[in-house]
Amino acid sequence: MFHLGWFLGDSTGIHQWWGPWSSTNATDWMKPDIYVDLATSLERGGFDLMFIEDTAMVEDTYGGSMEMSLKYGEMVPKNDPMLYMPLMAQATKHLGLVGTVSTIQYPPYLAARQAVSMDHVTKGRSGINVVTSVSHRVAQNFGYDQHLAHAERYAMANEWMDVVSALWESWDPDAVLMDKTEPRFADHTKVHTIDFEGTYFKVRGPLNTMPGPQRRPVVAQAGNSTPGRELAAAHADCMLALCKNPDEMRALRQDMDARLIAHGRKPGDLKILFMTIPVVAETDEDARELQRRAEAARHDQSAIDMRLWAMSYASGGTIDYGKFDLDGPVPQEIGTGETTTAKAWLENSEDMTLRDLVTGPFNYGMDFVGSYDTVAEQMGEAMDAAGGDGFLIYKPVTRKHIIEITDGLCPALQERGLIRTRYEHPTFRENLLAF
Ligand SMILES: Cc1cc2nc3c(=O)[nH]c(=O)nc-3n(C[C@H](O)[C@H](O)[C@H](O)COP(=O)(O)O)c2cc1C
Repeated sequence: MFHLGWFLGDSTGIHQWWGPWSSTNATDWMKPDIYVDLATSLERGGFDLMFIEDTAMVEDTYGGSMEMSLKYGEMVPKNDPMLYMPLMAQATKHLGLVGTVSTIQYPPYLAARQAVSMDHVTKGRSGINVVTSVSHRVAQNFGYDQHLAHAERYAMANEWMDVVSALWESWDPDAVLMDKTEPRFADHTKVHTIDFEGTYFKVRGPLNTMPGPQRRPVVAQAGNSTPGRELAAAHADCMLALCKNPDEMRALRQDMDARLIAHGRKPGDLKILFMTIPVVAETDEDARELQRRAEAARHDQSAIDMRLWAMSYASGGTIDYGKFDLDGPVPQEIGTGETTTAKAWLENSEDMTLRDLVTGPFNYGMDFVGSYDTVAEQMGEAMDAAGGDGFLIYKPVTRKHIIEITDGLCPALQERGLIRTRYEHPTFRENLLAF
């Protein structure tokens, strides 16, 4: 069996708001309804988790202007995802909810406290996706002139996680007594300051809330560079990965197993979810037709703009792809942002024009195209070849795409015994680590 996660890549921001099936997304993206629909559908389909992206800025790298961000609704407008998590939790019973928390946006005390509060509110289903933020524009909203260099961002994230982890342990497991007779709620000798003093953070502690049902909320990590892998190996329960075939999936799994062991952990302590945007329909031919139409649409000006926008963003705000000749060679610099993503997009592009690159297939992980049964079969084979642990499905948020996955693909996966049909455990981490 493998796990399924849904990547809410536009966060609680504007989703596909024009074109087919956009429905009321333009006017209703900020209302809770679509997120609650999504969460209940994912639970019906047997998903382990929903993973909610976040960034806090208005991008202006592409074209040196905010025009394209605001014209197409690229990462703006976007609301704070944390406020939607309790609403989704209230409508579901088992789904894990992972909210993105940037180590440059949140002081560790605030993040540790918020994650534990969320664990209480969700009754043991909260998680954080620890990111270092990608671009200068985010950093500039939080007191920096420029974002820190890649290596330093990760050094800071490691220290941040050390503080958060220490705060989560600042109440001993037997600190809470709830003795109504004496009366004595908690034993003050079992709640400790952490007195942390590092390069980036100074925190006294203890946390002013008691541990939630999971004690340590689930920790996810998404960067696949060497320091990203190290951060995951040291602290995470779940890692998000961009691999385009089973060989890459297996290689990453083996690399992470070795890193986990070096950190004194077991390979089974970390689940890797591999990104995919499956194209599914009732028949193979219908799915191929959808794929053909999507390929043709890549030549639309809006699609070209949005690809160039995404590449500029992934460069960390260091490369404006709007200033290059579309019919000239592809600039080969990687930038300082999402380095793994940027490398994957530029792979084998040395002899291409920029136009070929942006109108061609983009690497968003594993490619699956076919009927629900065909894709279920292919996913099972890929996961067997890779050796585990799951897929992270990334589709535009429309009711059609949600239903195709949760009521089309998921039953086909369940019939093959590939994903769960029930949740064995009360908490998110127990279900995530169950297989
Ligand atoms: C699937 C995926 C999801 C991500 N989600 C976010 C996010 O929500 N917010 C954010 O600031 N960065 C996000 N990132 C960026 C990473 O967490 C990481 O900081 C960045 O990709 C640097 O990665 P690298 O280790 O590959 O260089 C995401 C990356 C990936 C691949």
